[in-house]
Order: sequence, then C-alpha cells, then structure tokens
Amino acid sequence: MTTETRADPIDEQKLNELVETSLTDLGATVHAALAIIGDELGLYAALDEAGALTSAELAQETDTAERYVREWLRSQAAGGYITYNPETDSYELSPEQAYVLANEESPVFMPGAFQLVASAAQIEPELREAFRTGEGIGWHEHDEDVFHGTERFFGPSYGAFLLDWVEALDGVDEKLQAGGRIADVGCGHGAPTIRMAEAYPNSTVVGIDYHEDSIDVARERAEAAGIADRVDFEVATASEYDGTDYDLVTMFNCFHDMGDPVGVAAHIRETLAADGAWMIVEPYAEDRVEDNLTPFGRLAYSISTVACTPNSLSQDVGYGLGAQAGEKQTRDVVTESGFTRFRRAAETPTSLVFEARP
Ligand SMILES: C[S@@+](CC[C@H](N)C(=O)[O-])C[C@H]1O[C@@H](n2cnc3c(N)ncnc32)[C@H](O)[C@@H]1O
Repeated sequence: MTTETRADPIDEQKLNELVETSLTDLGATVHAALAIIGDELGLYAALDEAGALTSAELAQETDTAERYVREWLRSQAAGGYITYNPETDSYELSPEQAYVLANEESPVFMPGAFQLVASAAQIEPELREAFRTGEGIGWHEHDEDVFHGTERFFGPSYGAFLLDWVEALDGVDEKLQAGGRIADVGCGHGAPTIRMAEAYPNSTVVGIDYHEDSIDVARERAEAAGIADRVDFEVATASEYDGTDYDLVTMFNCFHDMGDPVGVAAHIRETLAADGAWMIVEPYAEDRVEDNLTPFGRLAYSISTVACTPNSLSQDVGYGLGAQAGEKQTRDVVTESGFTRFRRAAETPTSLVFEARP
C-alpha cells in the first residue's frame, strides 16, 4: 500500500504490518462467534469423533444445514483451526486442533474462552458510557455467558494445576489431607472449590461470592459432582464473609477484581488460623507494562478493561488493580494489609501463584 503523508512521514512497512494485524484481528473478532457455534452445535466434537468429513457429512452428523457448515468450515480452515484436504474436499482436526477445540478437559480448551470474551464484549455500550463517567460496572451486570465462559475457560487449568499449586505451599497439602478448613473467596461457579473438596475429603470447604446467581450454579455443580455434603456455598463479599481459623483461603483470578483489595486482604488475615495460608492465583504478568505487551498480556489487559477493572471501580474504594498487576504491586497491596510474608510459590505461562502468611 502507498500513501501520501500528513506532517510526519509514514513508514510504509510499519503501515502494512498494522493493516495486516488489523485484518487478522477482524477475522478473529468474527471467529469468536463462529467458535461458539462450532462448540454449541457440536461441530468440533463431531469432527473429532469422525475424523475427516466433507461439509455434507458434517452437516448430516450434526443435524445442521450444509451451506452454513461449508462456509463455517472454510473460515475455520483459513484461521488454522481446522485442516482442509483439497484432494478429498474434506476437513479434519489435527491432534493439536482437537486438543484445543474438542477436549473440554484439556488445560488449553479454548471454546469457553471465546464464550467469555464474546459475551463480555457485549457490555460495550455501557462501558463506553463508563469511560466518560468513570463509574464502575459490576460483575453481576454482565451477560450470563460471561460466568459460564469464565468457568469453562479457567476450569480445565484448575483440573490440571490446582493441586500442584497447593502442594507448592508450605505444609498446606499435609494439613488438608489430615483435615482442615478451606475458604475459596470469589468462587464464581465453584470450579476450584469443588476441585479442592474432591481432593481433600477430610477437609471442609466453603465457597464465597457476592454474586447470588453464581452461588446458585455452584451449588448445582456440587450436587452434580456428588459432593454437596462436603462443600458449602455462601453469598457474601470478600471483605465481610463469616468464619475464622481457616487453614487455607484461596482466591482464583479474582483478587484484582476487588474494589478494596487492601481491605479484603485485611479481612482474610483476620479469618485465617495463626499458621494459615492465603493462596492468590492471578493471571501471569510481569511488573513493567512494556514486558506485558504480549499476546497473553493483550488478552488479559482487554478482559481487564471490559470486566475486571469496571467491577473493581463499581465497589467501595474502587482501587482498580487490574488483571496485569504483576508480583510487585500484588505484594505491596497484600503486605500493606498486615501480612508479613509473601512469596511466589508457583507459576505457569498464564498464572502466578502467591502464598501469603499472617
Ligand atoms: C473472574 S471471576 C473468577 C471466579 C472463580 N474464582 C474462578 O476462577 O472460576 C471473579 C469472581 O469474583 C467475584 N467477585 C467480584 N467482586 C467480589 C467481592 N467484592 N466479593 C466477593 N466476590 C466478588 C465475582 O462475582 C466473580 O465470581
């Protein structure tokens, strides 16, 4: 592309790169809705089960209309999500594509993430207004697909890593094996709460969230998992929930959502046993903005702009920590509340796991 300049000369290579990036992003934006359709209608699952299929065969397998399916398959193939074979005019999932798109247990299962981002973006009219006023938007104000997408996005990684993270804390796993008290604060639909209740049958687990609809779903999930007798769920805020002498308090991907993280940390300290531990799992982030300008940082900053920061701004104090706070800022907030020890206990490419002690 060539163009005339305004005052400053335009570097055509940089311009072309940005246009290229925009084209990729425009395709990705539409892809989010199409990935949800592929998931909901079982298109990915049918391809995973059957192997290579033509569009007519896939439509028949899934009881869908061939003309739509054909166009959908071509868009998926253009994005690298499905593999096209021109010899047979058929489509299939490679093992890697199946692991990401059709295996709900895989720690990198992505359809739930598309469900989360596509539904969270629906808040745009209210968010535009919030940019002007500085008002917050509560988690509960989002479409319910945000809550389901969050559960499906994070759930598989808790299945894969949560117990390793608890084992990385000093002496906590042993205590919980023998029988301890756990509170999971900001539990949402209860995916991590239920994982811990299953892993530590001698311990009692309570999940706490201010969002009543999420707590209702969490109770249904515990019932379905057959552990409703071992786990309780309560509607309460993180700065006011009941109970004391907890051996472990956990917060999964929600500490940065708190309006008053220092006040929340102080309350958690009061509810912990003297030798109790607080495990804080946060999205992976470096301390400096320039080091977070990565594909994952972009996703986290973007979700933070549409959901996490508005939620924090909607609550008392309105601290607005943000989902890319990093270790230093998180440590500063936690120690300001009175915790004396704080360390990075574990990490994955997408998560930081901190241990704080009274
Ligand atoms: C990103 S979701 C994480 C849910 C869950 N921990 C998970 O990882 O699946 C954030 C959760 O924090 C909850 N939340 C936000 N502010 C809260 C507060 N002040 N007290 C308690 N829960 C809060 C929301 O209702 C939501 O369920």
